[in-house]
Amino acid sequence: MKKILSLLAALVFTQAQAKELDKYDCGQHYCRIPGNKSSGIFRDVLIKKIFDERAFKSGAGADYEFSFPQENQEFTSFQGQMNFAELRSFFPIFKTQSKGNSLTYLDSGATAQMPQSVIDEIVAYYATYKSNVGRGMYEFAEHATSKFEEARVKVARFIGAKKEEIVFTSGATASINLAAHIWADCHIGAGDEIIVSEVEHNANFIPWQQLALKKGAVLKRVPLSDKGVVEVETLKQYLCKKTKLVAITQQSNILGTISDIAGIVSAAHAVGAKVLVDGAQSIVHRKIDVKALDCDFFAFSAHKLFGPTGVGVLYIKQAIFDQCQLCNFGGGMVYSVSPEVTEFKGMPHRLEPGTQPIAQVIGLGAAIDFIEKNINFEQAQEHETALVLKLATALQEIPGVTIISPVPGLGEHNSMVTFTSDTIHAYDIAEYLSERNVAVRAGFHCAQLYHDKLGGNATVRASFTFYNTFDEVDFLIECLKKLLLV
Ligand code: ALA
Repeated sequence: MKKILSLLAALVFTQAQAKELDKYDCGQHYCRIPGNKSSGIFRDVLIKKIFDERAFKSGAGADYEFSFPQENQEFTSFQGQMNFAELRSFFPIFKTQSKGNSLTYLDSGATAQMPQSVIDEIVAYYATYKSNVGRGMYEFAEHATSKFEEARVKVARFIGAKKEEIVFTSGATASINLAAHIWADCHIGAGDEIIVSEVEHNANFIPWQQLALKKGAVLKRVPLSDKGVVEVETLKQYLCKKTKLVAITQQSNILGTISDIAGIVSAAHAVGAKVLVDGAQSIVHRKIDVKALDCDFFAFSAHKLFGPTGVGVLYIKQAIFDQCQLCNFGGGMVYSVSPEVTEFKGMPHRLEPGTQPIAQVIGLGAAIDFIEKNINFEQAQEHETALVLKLATALQEIPGVTIISPVPGLGEHNSMVTFTSDTIHAYDIAEYLSERNVAVRAGFHCAQLYHDKLGGNATVRASFTFYNTFDEVDFLIECLKKLLLV
């Protein structure tokens, strides 16, 4: 009887229909026919899980219950008063010590620390349901698939996108390279122009430099204004009908400055160019709404967002899906394979071949939960700005110190202070601080070209987030005075 029912279901839910459904709902929630576990012949029979049914069981007798966040529900940040000291206590790394000093971590611009809730989610996956996603026919594998796809919905809500517009990658760098391969490689040719700013991170410069070299395209770098941002009016002088792409950072990783992305997108679109936004730094400090920005691509990593390393996101605007070619091939991205032809799944799964960074994606979902529950971006910005002002004010009184990053004025935000000393090299400053368990970044911060413009000296960067404290700034200042005032 079960077999007959399964056979009937197979007739109803053909692969072709599943594919059709996938086109519209990105294929993420299919599961086997309940009770059909032993029928290998129905392996390919898929049932679409309706996202609007917010709770479902993965199969007959399943122990797991899932409830999905509403995709169309707007992301709401925490509305209460942030308790910065309590929030810091959620991060186990701050309980560590080195050489008798507690940790002063001022390198969140490189990678942010993870709260216990994110670590717990990752450990739970490894300890209790490690399995592959989109493949396993047993219950905990379906649980893993659900957690994985749930994370995609969380990311989509977080940046105001649709879930099918969210492609998981290994990080922001991989996201930008993916955009270069799937879109730019087939839409930019000899004589076409690509525009970047002069302050881009290597990850948003070298892919375009290499593409331009390969294609015979022209790569232009827009200078920053005195405020350290790309002004729309300046950009307009560089835009023309030949411009195919503007690839721009929203927040500089050495200056902390924020450019007007919506204005940049509008100007770029006016000449028919697409816009890729490097959101690696901005994603953690402000609410991102890709629809409001109207960008075509938006790239970021989880590890700067209180999540794990090894996973990033490429948002691709649905309107340009048809313009994207495939570039990486393997399992999990296909409906069917014959010796002659392969039928590929829809977006985003067609861009995610092979086993994905599953624990990391689930960790990213948990990081977004943490942010939604605890972080109010405006309050965090105020806190970060106060820390920056305190440090910058003290540094201004140390002879020979030059602050490279803009010191925020009234109503402005910055989350980092980047500086040099005339007398002591940046590496030596960082090493001295490291002896006191103070972590800063020193060097060119993967933005060599802008450092060349500044005179070629390495810089020291102290970058802040909500878990940093005024005591940490006091300790940093005390250390720097000991080192630089002798
Ligand atoms: N992009 C990261 C930084 O600026 C690694 O430190």
